[in-house]
Amino acid sequence: MRIVVKKGDITLEDVDAIVNAANEKMLGGGGVDGAIHRAAGPELLEYCRSLPEVRPGVRCPTGKARITPGFRLSAKWIIHTVGPIYRGKEEDKILLEAAFYNSLRLAEIYDVKTIAFPAISCGVYGYPHKEAAQVARGVVRNHVWDLREARFVIFADKDFEIWKEILQS
Ligand code: APR
Repeated sequence: MRIVVKKGDITLEDVDAIVNAANEKMLGGGGVDGAIHRAAGPELLEYCRSLPEVRPGVRCPTGKARITPGFRLSAKWIIHTVGPIYRGKEEDKILLEAAFYNSLRLAEIYDVKTIAFPAISCGVYGYPHKEAAQVARGVVRNHVWDLREARFVIFADKDFEIWKEILQS
């Protein structure tokens, strides 16, 4: 699987699946979640609302992934995953690994060949970019994935430099 690190807006990526850094409610939010919902259109929220709650207020537990159509996005699928809120604990790494891993597993199940990730948990959830990029590198490198390409689409210049350095070193 080819690894590509790009700077920009993930909603513009022409890939089979775009990964959304969602929250457990899966009813939208700010950051990349807000950008994806705006670009995908109102049908996305309607679809998310129809997904069952695994417990009150939780449609996608932290570390898990859910798939929806891309609606108005050029991407066929959106894979919603929930990263951990950074607390500086070992558990954070395990949950972030799970978010990347489960997104890729779901992509394989849906025969996705190209996927784009944002910097999951590195915004509102406060995960440091360097550590998050190292977690992502471990997940993509430690398994043989049945995908052709994984892109990491990073919004800000300084963050992009960190991800590029770590994922393409
Ligand atoms: N394209 C690519 N990356 C983006 C975009 C975009 N259009 N918009 C924001 N980002 C970047 C942010 O700069 C950050 O580096 O995505 C990264 C993840 O930040 P958040 O979107 O805040 O996601 P996260 O830290 O995982 O927090 C999730 O925030 O938006 C809410 O509903 C979401 O409650 C959830 C929480």
